[in-house]
Amino acid sequence: MADVVLKNVSKRMGSSQVIDGFSLDVANGEFVTLLGPSGCGKTTLLRMIAGLETVDKGDVLVGGKRYNNLPVQQRNLAMVFQSYALFPHMTVAQNIRFGLSIHKAPAETIRRKLAWSLDMFGLSGLEDRLPRQISGGQRQRVALARALVLDPDVLLLDEPLSNLDAALRDTAMEELKRIHHQVGTTIIYVTHNQVEAMTMSQRIAVLSAGRLEQYDTPRAVYDSPATRFAASFIGSPAMNFLNGAVEVHGEDAGVMTPVGFVKLDKERFTSAKAMAGRSVTVGIRPQNIAYAEHHESKRYSDTTLSVSVELVETLGDRSLVVSRGENGTALRFLITRDIDIEPQEMVEVFLDGRRVHLFDPQTNANVFSF
Ligand SMILES: Nc1ncnc2c1ncn2[C@@H]1O[C@H](COP(=O)(O)OP(=O)(O)OP(=O)(O)O)[C@@H](O)[C@H]1O
Ligand SMILES: [Mg+2]
Repeated sequence: MADVVLKNVSKRMGSSQVIDGFSLDVANGEFVTLLGPSGCGKTTLLRMIAGLETVDKGDVLVGGKRYNNLPVQQRNLAMVFQSYALFPHMTVAQNIRFGLSIHKAPAETIRRKLAWSLDMFGLSGLEDRLPRQISGGQRQRVALARALVLDPDVLLLDEPLSNLDAALRDTAMEELKRIHHQVGTTIIYVTHNQVEAMTMSQRIAVLSAGRLEQYDTPRAVYDSPATRFAASFIGSPAMNFLNGAVEVHGEDAGVMTPVGFVKLDKERFTSAKAMAGRSVTVGIRPQNIAYAEHHESKRYSDTTLSVSVELVETLGDRSLVVSRGENGTALRFLITRDIDIEPQEMVEVFLDGRRVHLFDPQTNANVFSF
């Protein structure tokens, strides 16, 4: 096991700056996810750690050792690719044993590790099958087993679940968490799927265009997104954004937006007052907007807004309402399934002033975190 430190690493490919001054520290035994949209540089970063891609600038340190120019074979890392890259003509057992045989491990060690991994990954009984004779989920487990029997210091996983169907992915996420818990290997996991990142990781690194937007626990990224990008990429349905300017009216501070005056909570009055006149983008999650049928639940810091319902999408346990304010600005919120509202209806909603984020329209930084 080892910690991984990336110090200001950069990488150009062709004419584009794929990674731009990226720093990250992953503690020994930690499960960290690199999360970001397609093309933001996740695979490139993993390949730089693995030694499959050179580092233009900055340092890659694993267990305190500078890895920049260390040959791939001398790095005690294992990488599992999205495609799994199993050897198609080898059985499950031969695939798992492959790395150990290459490293000339003693026969007894190979036997013991194979038995351990078959048991750990629920592959017993499948040892003599070829990859094409097992399911996608089983193939994924063989790829993980093949990587883990080598006792790598760090396990690098590049979207290992993206080929699985939804049900299998849920099980695989639980398994991966359990395996990490039992084996304790440092894991750097790459995905564009926020659910995988939120469910499994201890910390999430949110990436956009080769840069780090935020690095924090799943909960902190959700509750206090550092940037508008992090706010929009995490959370489902996506956060609402409204442009406006901070105004103070007597005891109330808020933001004048196209859908109305959005009040901010009393606790942050002083900081809001200091921002009077400033242009901001209000961010509020659909979960923090309540349908105003239940007036008794209204708090001081709630803003009541009248919106017109455009459509209602059933999500199963809840429904997502897409509505519009007077001048056509969209606002999305959630209702429970027992509430019946119809398109074209005018309804009142409460915006929870305690859950409002303010972003700087120029820098996109969160300037009003809580
Ligand atoms: N050989 C190359 N030459 C030029 N540009 C490249 C090369 N390889 C990758 N890129 C660019 O680098 C950027 C990052 O690619 P990378 O594969 O790291 O993205 P990613 O975050 O893993 O995306 P995905 O989620 O689609 O796998 C992309 O914009 C890609 O087009
Ligand atoms: Mg990729």
